[in-house]
Amino acid sequence: MSPPRVRRPDLGGPFPEHIAVIMDGNGRWAEGRGLRRVLGHREGIRSVREITTSCAEMGVKSLTLYAFSVENWKRPRAEVRYLMRLLRTFLIGERDTLMENDVRLSAIGRLDSLPDDALVELRRTEELTRDNPGMRLRLALSYGARTELADAARKLSKDVLAGKLDPDAIDDETLRSYLYDPETADPDLLIRTAGEMRLSNFLLWQASYAELYVAQVCWPEFRKPELMEALASYARRQRKYGGLVLDRPPTKPIPPVSSERP
Ligand code: IPE
Ligand code: IPE
Ligand code: MG
Repeated sequence: MSPPRVRRPDLGGPFPEHIAVIMDGNGRWAEGRGLRRVLGHREGIRSVREITTSCAEMGVKSLTLYAFSVENWKRPRAEVRYLMRLLRTFLIGERDTLMENDVRLSAIGRLDSLPDDALVELRRTEELTRDNPGMRLRLALSYGARTELADAARKLSKDVLAGKLDPDAIDDETLRSYLYDPETADPDLLIRTAGEMRLSNFLLWQASYAELYVAQVCWPEFRKPELMEALASYARRQRKYGGLVLDRPPTKPIPPVSSERP
């Protein structure tokens, strides 16, 4: 089978290498239709498939999807159980699509909290797709950024105590090396659906300079056209990282100075 063609759209500006998504609003999507909340999660899988495939086709290098937070364990038991069953079904059912699109799947989070049957399928899918040369799809599962930082601090302290790490030599990059997946570059674009303007404990360290984009639609309605809008918005951004951009014209024209000014 020939490898899938990668076609990067020209949106007149930069294109993100790594996109991270807070997939929110599944419950609202269902409730708004008089359906049970969990049916929103089921419908959300279609968006996961469409967004993953579209990103892979457009040559995005990494896509990180916030699928289940450490705080989400607080939800009603029936909803958590449904989500874990859905995760397992997804991991089995999407294998062909992942292989067809050359996607390599991995996960970040407190994975040992997942039910054994879901974890087994996660490991199988990781193993099956590990040599795929295309996009990396990272699922954030039982993930919390504060937990990630606490886990990193614990490992780092042990290395200091064992004499493997000099505390005076610790810098940003040292800290990065203790995070769940230090190899994957920071997200360039962070999308959240369902209109919420918060990070909900997602990639707090890595998203320091991510460009934020909030879509009003709920996750089950976030499909390729909505992704293209987010990419078009990103293409108009100027990333400055605290410095100054001297070689690009400003995005908005500056109004001419009135000659009548005093
Ligand atoms: C996001 O949708 C999916 C998960 C958090 C697992 P929600 O379930 O949070 O949907 P809303 O925000 O309640 O509508
Ligand atoms: C964030 O959504 C977590 C995921 C999308 C997996 P939540 O719905 O859990 O976040 P809050 O409670 O609105 O902050
Ligand atoms: Mg929510």
